[in-house]
Amino acid sequence: MLGARESIHGQWSSRYAFILAATGAAVGLGNIWKFPYIMGENGGGAFVLVYLLCIVLIGIPVMMSEVLIGRRGRQSPGLSVKTLAQEANASTRWQIAGWSGLVASYLILSFYAVVAGWALAYVFKTARGDFSDVSADAIGAQFGAHLADPWLLMTWSAVILFVTVFVVAKGVHKGLEKAVNFLMPSLFVLLAIMAIYSGMNGAFGEAAEFMFKPDFSKLTINGVLLALGHAFFTLSLASGAMIIYGAYLPANVSIAKTSMLIALVDTCVAIVAGLAIYPLVFQYGLTPSEGPGLIFVTLPIAFGSMPFGTLFGTLFFVMLVFAAFTSAIAMIESTVAWLVERKGLSRLMATVTTGGSLWLVGLLTVFSFSGAGWATFTITIFGKTLSSYFEVVDYLTSAIMLPLGGLAVAIFVGWTMKRKVTVEELNTSALAYGIWRFAIRWFTPIAVAVVFLHLIGVLDG
Ligand code: PHE
Ligand code: NA
Repeated sequence: MLGARESIHGQWSSRYAFILAATGAAVGLGNIWKFPYIMGENGGGAFVLVYLLCIVLIGIPVMMSEVLIGRRGRQSPGLSVKTLAQEANASTRWQIAGWSGLVASYLILSFYAVVAGWALAYVFKTARGDFSDVSADAIGAQFGAHLADPWLLMTWSAVILFVTVFVVAKGVHKGLEKAVNFLMPSLFVLLAIMAIYSGMNGAFGEAAEFMFKPDFSKLTINGVLLALGHAFFTLSLASGAMIIYGAYLPANVSIAKTSMLIALVDTCVAIVAGLAIYPLVFQYGLTPSEGPGLIFVTLPIAFGSMPFGTLFGTLFFVMLVFAAFTSAIAMIESTVAWLVERKGLSRLMATVTTGGSLWLVGLLTVFSFSGAGWATFTITIFGKTLSSYFEVVDYLTSAIMLPLGGLAVAIFVGWTMKRKVTVEELNTSALAYGIWRFAIRWFTPIAVAVVFLHLIGVLDG
């Protein structure tokens, strides 16, 4: 039965190709841009600890489940779950677990492309020496000026989406695989160089204490939810990505081992990114709760003063763009695959339509930052005050859709699919299987439920 179905979109050429692509999907702005600033907004150490626990206890088991769904179903997320539900004689309503992922990654990409555009703009700013011998304040002001120019933001996000469409249109083999091949290793090396530099020249002790010494009095229930949601976001879970990439996975590859490897690399990149940024934050008296601009106002300070800073800085932002780009590919792929499967579009048409519509939706993000009145407002969800389209869509996806989507995946795989099928797909030792099954049937659903019950005030929080 294993490998009985085939994907109409093709397959990864090897285990290694899948690992690269899935790591490319995982490692992105989430690690380098988002993790440092949300850690700062939520008090540091305690947030990091909860985040790490979520990765290990929930993220890895859910990732295994999603790759399993994809490889067994061999279609876009919604249709894969639907097929497996039918096979298990269960309600086809389960397919919502797949569709919600597709919607989430569409919404995420609508702001992700804009932020990737900031990074692309910063490639050129760094290269032409905008940050050399400039004060920390001036660097902050430069970022402010950049955000205030909607035309710039629109143009750069268009470039990002254009290149994404170009690669994805070429298909699984020629496009996706080639792109990630050399990007991931180089990114990691560069990030490590940055961390060493800012460790030596910045307030390393303070940074390490901030990141690793948990102070639970600083962590709110909303912070716990954000840590949980970020674990999903950073591993690209509940967003269709791991299901669709699993759909292209050859039959004999170990899902357990590859999932753990991907999670490990993703986590290391996030921690190293934090260590590259926080020593500078403390050294230059910036605030950890700076928000989405954090890396754009800290790292340029280092680039402006370190030897070969222009070169390193330019390379760094190039790598950041690539990391974002391999994630963007993963976000767009489910929608494209579905349009090809069910709407009869050619791959090219499907990608162009999706990319074009994303650019339009992304304008809401652009105006969230440039302060246009209709994209900024105030709304309170679960006691959290959000003040722009960007903040709402970010919270809606990461904090709400992803954890609930993960919950649905866990229940579907743990309780609805036949045990025999999951044993066959995971094909791992009895002990590893047992741990996975416990995590997916009990731990994940209970943990997610408890966080939400606290949040809506049912449990005392
Ligand atoms: N994991 C990516 C990151 O950390 C974001 C992402 C989310 C990618 C969902 C694909 C799907 O940047
Ligand atoms: Na990530």
